[in-house]
Amino acid sequence: MAFSFSLFILFLSNLLCPAISQESNSGSLQTYIVHVQQPPGAATLFSFKDREKWYRSFLSAETAGLRESRMIYSYSSVISGFAARLTEEELSHMKNKSGFTDAYLDRILPLQTTHTPSFLGLHRDAPGLWKDSNYGRGVIIGVLDTGIASNHASFSDEGMPSPPAKWEGYCKFNASNCNNKLIGAREFLTGSNAMQTPTDRRKLRGSTNDTNGHGTHTASTAAGMFVNNASVNGLAKGTASGVAPYAHLAIYKVCTGDGSCAESDILAGMDAAVEDGVDLMSLSIGGPSTAFDRDSIAIGAFGAIQKGILVSCAAGNDGPEHGTLSNEAPWILTVGASTMDRLIQTTVTLGDNDEINGESAYEPNNFSSTPLPLIYPGILGGRQAGFCDNSSLDDIDVRGKIVVCDDGWIDDVSKGEIVKNAGGLGMIVANLMVEGFTTFSYTHVLPTSHVSYSDGQRIKAYINSASAPNASITFKGTVIGTKPAPAVAYFSSRGPSQADPNILKPDVIGPGVNVLAAWPFEVGASGTRARFNIISGTSMATPHLSGIAALLKSMHPDWSPAAIKSAIMTTADLTANDGNPITDETSNPADFFGIGAGHVNVLKASDPGLVYDIKPDDYLAYLCGLRYTDRQVSIIARRAVRCSNVGSMAGKDLNYPSFMVFLNATNNYMVEVTRTVTNVGAASSTYTVQSRTSSKGVKVDVKPMVLSFTKANERLQYNVTFSSSGISGGKYFQGYLMWISSDNSTTVGSPIVIAVV
Ligand SMILES: *[C@@H]1O[C@H](CO)[C@@H](O)[C@H](O)[C@H]1NC(C)=O
Ligand SMILES: *[C@@H]1O[C@H](CO)[C@@H](O)[C@H](O)[C@H]1NC(C)=O
Ligand SMILES: *[C@@H]1O[C@H](CO)[C@@H](O)[C@H](O)[C@H]1NC(C)=O
Ligand SMILES: *[C@@H]1O[C@H](CO)[C@@H](O)[C@H](O)[C@H]1NC(C)=O
Ligand SMILES: *[C@@H]1O[C@H](CO)[C@@H](O)[C@H](O)[C@H]1NC(C)=O
Ligand SMILES: *[C@@H]1O[C@H](CO)[C@@H](O)[C@H](O)[C@H]1NC(C)=O
Ligand SMILES: *[C@@H]1O[C@H](CO)[C@@H](O)[C@H](O)[C@H]1NC(C)=O
Ligand SMILES: *[C@@H]1O[C@H](CO)[C@@H](O)[C@H](O)[C@H]1NC(C)=O
Ligand SMILES: *[C@@H]1O[C@H](CO)[C@@H](O)[C@H](O)[C@H]1NC(C)=O
Ligand SMILES: *[C@@H]1O[C@H](CO)[C@@H](O)[C@H](O)[C@H]1NC(C)=O
Repeated sequence: MAFSFSLFILFLSNLLCPAISQESNSGSLQTYIVHVQQPPGAATLFSFKDREKWYRSFLSAETAGLRESRMIYSYSSVISGFAARLTEEELSHMKNKSGFTDAYLDRILPLQTTHTPSFLGLHRDAPGLWKDSNYGRGVIIGVLDTGIASNHASFSDEGMPSPPAKWEGYCKFNASNCNNKLIGAREFLTGSNAMQTPTDRRKLRGSTNDTNGHGTHTASTAAGMFVNNASVNGLAKGTASGVAPYAHLAIYKVCTGDGSCAESDILAGMDAAVEDGVDLMSLSIGGPSTAFDRDSIAIGAFGAIQKGILVSCAAGNDGPEHGTLSNEAPWILTVGASTMDRLIQTTVTLGDNDEINGESAYEPNNFSSTPLPLIYPGILGGRQAGFCDNSSLDDIDVRGKIVVCDDGWIDDVSKGEIVKNAGGLGMIVANLMVEGFTTFSYTHVLPTSHVSYSDGQRIKAYINSASAPNASITFKGTVIGTKPAPAVAYFSSRGPSQADPNILKPDVIGPGVNVLAAWPFEVGASGTRARFNIISGTSMATPHLSGIAALLKSMHPDWSPAAIKSAIMTTADLTANDGNPITDETSNPADFFGIGAGHVNVLKASDPGLVYDIKPDDYLAYLCGLRYTDRQVSIIARRAVRCSNVGSMAGKDLNYPSFMVFLNATNNYMVEVTRTVTNVGAASSTYTVQSRTSSKGVKVDVKPMVLSFTKANERLQYNVTFSSSGISGGKYFQGYLMWISSDNSTTVGSPIVIAVV
């Protein structure tokens, strides 16, 4: 897909940049993340001082005088190792030291609401999950992002209790930025800084203030306080709040204002969050697929789940092609993005009276509905002009006209500025084919309607056929209840997982298109400016899931990260609000590589009946089963692991709440897997299984077909046999397995993907 790179950039403009390797710009020094064994025999006296001494012993003697400055971070909780500035020679010297395990270059990873809570079934002051979960009271969400606009109304602590006694975090630069809502704010930018030229270094440091907007938006989405009258340009008006409005927020600024996040800084933030005592971590950050022992977020997340801390991460914005995921480790909650049932509607009426609906978050009430000449510069000026790129309109007279611009290349608001500067009066943004039906409500600078690819084609066909094409744009305001919703956004990254195809990913989808949340700066046309903004991305879906996990944690403090994940996945919805299967940007049903287990259903997730639990140590046998070496597994485990001792487990056998199996001649087109479910519902309960597949040629047999529990937390096993006969290879088939309680009140569902090779 030739344009995927540019789409990726323009979609969240500066919030999203491709992962790049660090360029050395200070002589031959580069930052390495170094993994080392724990010192021999030091397990019991592994104090802060001992650790520092041990880590420093890996730096070469020649840099003895510089040791302090070469060491960027000395990690303690989520990795056994440190980050340091090294020459290649120093690195190869270090590799010879006993206790050294691995080192890799630090990399930059990209960052990837009024209406959302009620779309998710959360209603203020009404009985239901919000009340039952105390709105997330007592739970601490750690948000690793671009910092925070601490003076925003969304971070008021009115009615908030003090942080729990275990809390050890703080506000680094200015204690008066903290309150009972915002209980911590720390900055970790040493790694990013080291990659800058010396003159740029100073600009980055010394504040947890969010100069980007992304971090303020994600934090307020997870746990923003109720704010009345939130809107953008007077649109999408309502009471804004996060998903868990009474949860506490701890901010770890690990990304710079331009949205780049160094892995060494992310690890430092995760390390600090664990020590401070967060209950959950939310990371709307992610790079390309990486082996788990070289994936800093995966390594940090493993340290976190060992302490009972769930880590929720963005699936990435590289869709809609398959195999484009970030954050694939099975111990992470991987979140894709979908649309909501709210539209800020605009209607284009063509000269032939064809009416086409689109959207925009700028709807001035003084725009005339008289038809204006309609022009598509792509016809006159070639492909580049079709994007309304700067200067491409120089030779085209758009004055007094409505201009059709193809989506892509540059961001949509900038296109509007270019059209306006060239004298255009209105703009229609037409999706590229790959973007299908996913459209955005942005705060444009002139009357605009963003339309789907097929509607764009209709408009262009009309322009080609009419002698004097014309159109008008009218505004319909905020429309709630549009169907179908949710639908998978075109940009949401898709499975299969490249790091391990045996685990079905993403795990779940949540709202990530046109999300209104807090913003550090005022946005909008004069007269309606407010500190809220509408943006989109798997970055926006992730904090929704983090907030939901906080509600579940508040109700069920004893649930493990795997149990919370399971509850979210087995209760997710497969159908949209029109009763049909959830679709994707093509308006055809989405596959499980798009929706994972489905769209999160908060109410059901709070009472899942059964959960698929996984102990942190089970992942070690899983990694051995992936044929990771003892050394690689030890890096992730932060202790010496021998696969010959922990055993080896195939990915299909990990007690995951979904199924991904490969049938081939080697296994005679038959695979059996075992799952264990834990009863977290009524002590005495009976479940019966139902299963189905997309083809008669692939079969799913479950044994036993009835599970009868007599105690709370009782664990029972069942086996599933997947088989195929007479099916030609090279295809994916889908299926679904569901345990239903005898009173039909509770269903425990798992998506199935069967690859016949
Ligand atoms: C590392 O050790 C190997 C063999 O033990 C030796 O040949 C090599 O010179 C050493 N390299 C450094 C940089 O000390
Ligand atoms: C600390 O924050 C408070 C409240 O935001 C502000 O009034 C004060 O000026 C800040 N102090 C410093 C030293 O920046
Ligand atoms: C935070 O950054 C924004 C944008 O640079 C600036 O307008 C604001 O004054 C800063 N706030 C504080 C408290 O430093
Ligand atoms: C909301 O804002 C409008 C003006 O934009 C004002 O008239 C109204 O009183 C505000 N409502 C609340 C609850 O603050
Ligand atoms: C708009 O175009 C239609 C044909 O597409 C034409 O009949 C009509 O007269 C035009 N209106 C104006 C105001 O140019
Ligand atoms: C409509 O109102 C906006 C904002 O008040 C103003 O900038 C613009 O010039 C007005 N447009 C027309 C056509 O009056
Ligand atoms: C377009 O180009 C002009 C002149 O090069 C420049 O001043 C302007 O900022 C550019 N606009 C955008 C939106 O890039
Ligand atoms: C068949 O699938 C198994 C995993 O179930 C795999 O280990 C094996 O390599 C596959 N064989 C072929 C020929 O693809
Ligand atoms: C499930 O499979 C395992 C391993 O093959 C076997 O030990 C167990 O008895 C089976 N359980 C059932 C209920 O069939
Ligand atoms: C549960 O649903 C099944 C199938 O729809 C139905 O046959 C059965 O009677 C229901 N059981 C209860 C207790 O409602």
